[in-house]
Amino acid sequence: MSYHQARYDEPLLWEIEPPPEAPAAPEPIPGVPERLRRRHGVRWPELSELEVIRHFTRLSQMNFGIDTNAYPLGSCTMKYNPKVSELLARRPGAAEAHPGQPEATVQGSLEILWRLEQALGKITGFEEVSLQPAAGAHGEFAALLMIRAYLAERGELERRTEVLLPDTAHGTNPASAAMAGFTAREIRSKDGCVDPAALAAAVSDRTAAFMLTNPNTAGLFEPEIVEIARTVHGAGGLLYYDGANLNAILGVTSPGRMGFDVAHLNLHKTFATPHGGGGPGAGVLAAGPTLAPFLPVPRIVRRGRNFRLDYDRPRSIGKIKSGLGNFGLDLRALVFLLSHGESGIRRISRRAVLNSNYLGQRLGTRLPRPFRPLVKHEFLLSGAPLKARGLRTLDLAKRLLDEGIHAPTVYFPSLVEEALMIEMPETESRRELDLLVAAFERALGDTPEALRAAPQSLAVGRIDEVAAARHLLLSWKDLRERGAVLGMAGPTPEGATPGKT
Ligand SMILES: Cc1ncc(COP(=O)(O)O)c(C=O)c1O
Repeated sequence: MSYHQARYDEPLLWEIEPPPEAPAAPEPIPGVPERLRRRHGVRWPELSELEVIRHFTRLSQMNFGIDTNAYPLGSCTMKYNPKVSELLARRPGAAEAHPGQPEATVQGSLEILWRLEQALGKITGFEEVSLQPAAGAHGEFAALLMIRAYLAERGELERRTEVLLPDTAHGTNPASAAMAGFTAREIRSKDGCVDPAALAAAVSDRTAAFMLTNPNTAGLFEPEIVEIARTVHGAGGLLYYDGANLNAILGVTSPGRMGFDVAHLNLHKTFATPHGGGGPGAGVLAAGPTLAPFLPVPRIVRRGRNFRLDYDRPRSIGKIKSGLGNFGLDLRALVFLLSHGESGIRRISRRAVLNSNYLGQRLGTRLPRPFRPLVKHEFLLSGAPLKARGLRTLDLAKRLLDEGIHAPTVYFPSLVEEALMIEMPETESRRELDLLVAAFERALGDTPEALRAAPQSLAVGRIDEVAAARHLLLSWKDLRERGAVLGMAGPTPEGATPGKT
C-alpha cells in the first residue's frame, strides 16, 4: 500500500465567506424572558451545506486515525471503536439526556451506568466502581486523594508521605502523586520488572502507596506480584493498580486477585471507546474494601427496579467531575462488553497477547529486544543499532509515517536505549501485522538520507520540535503565516527553511 495523505490549503469557513457584520436578531421564542433574548444574530458565515461538508471532509482527509491506518502506539491500546457502539451512543435518548435531569426521568441512563459498574467490578475483582474520572491521570489523582483520606482517618498522613513507583511507570504516575501532595520515589527495575529486593529496601513507615502497572510498560507481567503485595502491605502501604494495560489480562486475572487495593481503568483503551487528541476519556476507579468507602459521590444504587444517586457517603472524597462521568464513553464500553459476553472477554486478551508475541518475534529479527522474549500485550525494541548509520529511533518512527503507519511510542520507557514500544491490539488482523513488518523492513532498508528526510507524504512534514515548543502557534492564523518555518503545511515565508528556525 502506498500512502499519500491529502494536503489541502484549506481556508477557514470565516475566510471563505466572511460573516455579516451585524446579522438581524432572530424571531423571539415565546416564553424566553426579554433579558435572555439575543440582541443580534450569530455571526456565522453564510455557506451552503455542501460547502461546509466539503470543508470538513477535506480537513478529515488531512488527519490520521484508526479507521484508516494502523496505530501501533505502545501503552495506548489503539483499538478499533465498533460502529454499533457509535450508533447507540448517538441516539437521542443517550446523547441528549442532561446530567442535571431528575433521577426519575433518566432511569435508563442510570441503569446503563450501574450495569457497567457491575461488569467492571467483576473484571477488576473489586467490590465498588465509580465512573466519574475523565481520564486515566484523573483516575490516578482521585485514587491518591482516596489514599490521602484513608491515611488521614488513621492519623498516618503526616508520616506516610512517599509514593513509590518503578522506573517503568507512566509519567502520569509520579505527576499524580506530586499533585496529590506526596513525594514520588522511583525504584530501579531488574530485567524490566520490579526488583523485590529493591522494593523491600525502599518501603518504610513513610510509604503511602506503591503504584504499579501490570503487565508493565515493557509488556512484562510482574512475576513477583504476590511478594510485591505482601511487602507493600507489610509496611502498612497501599497497592495502586494503573489499569492502562488491562487489555493483556482481561478475564484471565484481575487487580483484585493480585492483591491491589485500588485501580483506575482507561475505558478509552481497553473497552474500545474513542481516545486521543485530549478528547473525552474515562478513567474509571475500582476499589476493594479498604478504599471503597472513599470513592467519589454520588454512587449509583439500585433499589428493586429503580436506580438513584446516593450522596450520603460521609467518608467519600466528594465529587470530582461534573455530571456522572463521560456518559457516551460509558455506554460504548457497555455495548462492547455485552457484545463480547463473559467468555469473549478472555478471547480479547489472548488475541492481544498473541498479536504482540507474533510481531515481537518477527521484528525481533530486525532490531534487538530487551528483556525476556515472551511478553503480554506489547513489546519493546531498541533502535540503538541505528546509531551506527548516523540515525536514531526518531528517524525510523518518522519514516514509518510515510508507510501509512502511526509511529510507535518512542523513547519510553527510558530504561531502554532508543526505545520503541509497540502494541497492536486484538482488533488488528494477521494481515495488518504482516503489513507492519513489511513496512518496518522497507524503512530499515532505506537510505539514511531518506530516513532523515521523512515524513514526506504527510500534510505536515518533520517539525522542529524545539522551535515548536519555543514558538507556540496557538491559532490557525499564526500557523498559516508562520507554520512553514516549523515544517508545517502553509506558505513558506521568503528565506525561511522548512524544519529550521
Ligand atoms: C500506563 C499508563 N498509565 C496512565 C496513563 C494515563 O492515561 P490518560 O492518558 O487517560 O490520562 C497512560 C496513558 O497513556 C498509560 O499508558
